[in-house]
Amino acid sequence: MSKKRIAIIGAGGIINSHIKAIHTNIDRVELVGISDINEERVQEVCNAFDIPHGYTDNHKMLNELQPDLVHIISPPATHKDLIIASLEAGAWVFCEKPLCRSLADFDAITEAENRTGRYVSTVFQWRFGSAGKHMKKLIQDDVFGKPMVLSCNTWWYRTQQYYDAPWRGTYEKEFGGPTMTLGIHLTDFMLWMMDDWAEVSAMIGTLDHDIQVEDISMAHIRFENDARASIINSALSPRQETYLRMDFQKATIELKAMYRYTNENWTFSTHPDLKDPEIKAQWDALDVDFMGSHDQQLSEILDAMDNNTRPPVSGDEARRIIDFNASLYKSAFTKTHIKRGSITPDDPFYFSNNGAPEMMEQA
Ligand SMILES: NC(=O)c1ccc[n+]([C@@H]2O[C@H](COP(=O)([O-])OP(=O)(O)OC[C@H]3O[C@@H](n4cnc5c(N)ncnc54)[C@H](O)[C@@H]3O)[C@@H](O)[C@H]2O)c1
Repeated sequence: MSKKRIAIIGAGGIINSHIKAIHTNIDRVELVGISDINEERVQEVCNAFDIPHGYTDNHKMLNELQPDLVHIISPPATHKDLIIASLEAGAWVFCEKPLCRSLADFDAITEAENRTGRYVSTVFQWRFGSAGKHMKKLIQDDVFGKPMVLSCNTWWYRTQQYYDAPWRGTYEKEFGGPTMTLGIHLTDFMLWMMDDWAEVSAMIGTLDHDIQVEDISMAHIRFENDARASIINSALSPRQETYLRMDFQKATIELKAMYRYTNENWTFSTHPDLKDPEIKAQWDALDVDFMGSHDQQLSEILDAMDNNTRPPVSGDEARRIIDFNASLYKSAFTKTHIKRGSITPDDPFYFSNNGAPEMMEQA
C-alpha cells in the first residue's frame, strides 16, 4: 500500500507530539508539508524536521499538495473552517482538541463528512494507552460488577501569563476554561469507558485569573446505569495531578498521572470481604504496556484509512464530549440539571458554551 501523504496546519507547542507520531508511523506515511500564519515558525520547523514544503497560506497548501491526511493543530477557533476546507480538498483530518466551539459546529463538520466521504478524528490520546483499552474491555465484560462511584479530577495549574496568549481566556477563542482545554482529556476518557451519561449539574467560577472563562468547574453526573460521578476541572491547583477513581461493586481502580500514563500509573484494590481472586487475575492479565499517545491514535487512523472505515474518536464517539461540556456549562449558567441530548438547535447553548445570543445570531 502506498504511503499516506500528511500535511500539518499549525506549528506551535504541540507539534512535537505530531512529528513523533509521524516518525513512529514512518513506514506508512510521509510528511509533505506544513503551514502556519507565522512565516518564521514555518521556516524553523521545516529546517528542524526536514519538511519539504512550507506555507503561510493553508488553502494554497491544501490545493497544491493534495494531502491524504491533514493534522490540524492550530488554535481551537480556527479548527472548524480548516477541517471543512481539508475535507473538501479530499483529505481525512486528525484535529487537536477541543475539536470545535459547539454542537452547531460539530454538526456542520458532520455534514461536511457526509458530503465528502472523508472523516475527522479528534486527538484524545488518553483513549489509546494499553491500560485504558484493557480497562474499557474489562468494564464491557462486566468483570468488576456495576460501576457506582467515580471521581474524575484534573487538578492542574496555569499562570496568568498562560492565559495572556492571544487565543486563550475567552469563550469566542478558547470556547471555555479548563473544562474545554485541560480536563477535557480525563472527562472524555471517563465518558468513553462508561455507559451513557444521563444528567449533569455543575458550577463554574473564575477565582484567580483575569479571564472571561472559568478557572474552576465542578460537576455531578448521573449515568444511565445509575452510577454517580463528580468532576473537577481546575487551573488553580499548585500540586498538579490527574486523578481518576472508579469504585465498582467488586474493586476500586485508580489512575494517578499527569499528562500521560503507562500501566504503572494504575492501581487495583479490593476489600478483604470481597474474596474473588479471579477478578485480580483478569486485571493482571494485561501483558503489553504502551502509553496513550498521538502515535497510537495515528496508527489506528491509518488502519481506518486503509479499510475506508470510520476512524476512532469520530462521529458520535467525538460528539459525546462536545454535548457533555455544553451541558455542563448550560447547567452552570442556568443553575439547572441538564439531560443528555437536550441541547437542540433552538437553544443558545447549541452555539456556544456561554449561551451568548450573538453566537446564535451569527450562525
Ligand atoms: N493533545 C494534547 O495533549 C494537547 C496539548 C497541548 C495543546 N493541544 C491543542 O493543540 C492546539 C494548539 O495548541 P498549541 O499549544 O500548539 O498552541 P500554540 O499557541 O503554541 O501554537 C499555535 C500555532 O498555530 C498557528 N496559527 C494560528 N492561527 C493559524 C491559522 N489560521 N492557520 C495556521 N496556523 C495558525 C500559530 O501561529 C502558532 O504557531 C490547541 O487546540 C490545543 O488545545 C493539545
